[in-house]
Amino acid sequence: MDARAVIAAVRDGRVPDAAALRWFAAGLASGVVTDAQAGAFAMAVVLKGLGEAGRVALTEGMRDSGDILRWDLPGPVADKHSTGGVGDTVSLLLAPALAACGVFVPMVSGRGLGHTGGTLDKLDALDGYRTEVSAAQFSRVVAETGCAIAGATGNIAPADKRLYLVRDVTSTVESVDLITASILSKKLAAGLEALVMDVKCGSGAFMATREDARALAEALVATGTGAGCATLALITDMDQPLAPVAGNALEVAEVLRVLRGDVRGGRLRAATEALGGALLARLGLAADESAGQAQIAATLDDGRAAERFGRMVAAMGGAADVIENGLSRLPEAPVVVEVTAGEAGAVARIDTRALGEAVVHLGGGRLREDDRLDLSVGLSDLLGLGATVARGDPLARIHAATEEAAEAARAAVAGAYTLGETAEVPDLVLERIG
Ligand code: URA
Repeated sequence: MDARAVIAAVRDGRVPDAAALRWFAAGLASGVVTDAQAGAFAMAVVLKGLGEAGRVALTEGMRDSGDILRWDLPGPVADKHSTGGVGDTVSLLLAPALAACGVFVPMVSGRGLGHTGGTLDKLDALDGYRTEVSAAQFSRVVAETGCAIAGATGNIAPADKRLYLVRDVTSTVESVDLITASILSKKLAAGLEALVMDVKCGSGAFMATREDARALAEALVATGTGAGCATLALITDMDQPLAPVAGNALEVAEVLRVLRGDVRGGRLRAATEALGGALLARLGLAADESAGQAQIAATLDDGRAAERFGRMVAAMGGAADVIENGLSRLPEAPVVVEVTAGEAGAVARIDTRALGEAVVHLGGGRLREDDRLDLSVGLSDLLGLGATVARGDPLARIHAATEEAAEAARAAVAGAYTLGETAEVPDLVLERIG
């Protein structure tokens, strides 16, 4: 086998056979395939696609590039994954909420990708939390606390780990085939019985249109289900940030506020309830989705999700008092400036990708594989669609390392907001697949 031949076939619109794609996936994990070859392959797939058979072969090859976890637990093993958004910290709320409902959640997460935030980068803001643990420790924490969130630990889907980093910095994220293989390789290797996918759609999503989001959701559901994992997908709106914050420590702060009960309502919590409710219904742990949503809401209201989160953080090396005292220990940026409205009106459109890019350029995301993140930077107090402002009212706050960085972000953030006389606010859940 020869990496150049695989790349050339995809480039020319010929789908390599399953054995070649599996070999390529194994080569990503072993290092036989170089970074340059991985980047060229990713770009060829973005431009030409792999088709269904190629997508399944790549997914299976990436799943089998490392260990596959097996569970023997007194409850269902299930998880949720998002295709990537801005201000999307549902995972940090939903994993402990599901655990409190009797589900075991081995959540294998990723780092930031393109303009979107990554769960592992967010967890780095919690002092001591180890996102890289052995498969044995990961399994023990899941068994003991009901949930663990970590990177593709030890040797889970190492092919994705490698390709993910390359895609992040080569503008090769936007592909149904690559997103499906990336997500499902690690989810299937985690030994799940069920998976709920949050497929984002809109200006801050990799799939901006409903058609593209639907194609991705259908690919994820068909490929996941075909591989023996009951997979369902909600297509949810990403025409605005999911939370009023974007940036690693700022998003963790929002999660802690929701878990403490300081923040009630809002789209972040609504998304958590919708995804959790759908999964509980699928697992037969709730009579239907709305009963499942009520169960998730109850764990957030009565402190059970907070208690699980605290136990998970402690078991992963962080502080046991994260709920009580974690907020004051999060890193804070030295410069905070307001972006104000130049005119009165209602927020009619938000270029959500531009907000995510602003966070990346502040230092909260990567421009190169070897960039070190500044976890403290980002955006807060982001107004949502439909909010009304007078001239001079704040649209958002920028948290930056320097005055210069804050000034550079100011134009990007202001430009991301369009004010009008009226505004339509899209529903949060746009469609259900599977
Ligand atoms: N999340 C992933 O894990 N991979 C992708 O490609 C996109 C979102």
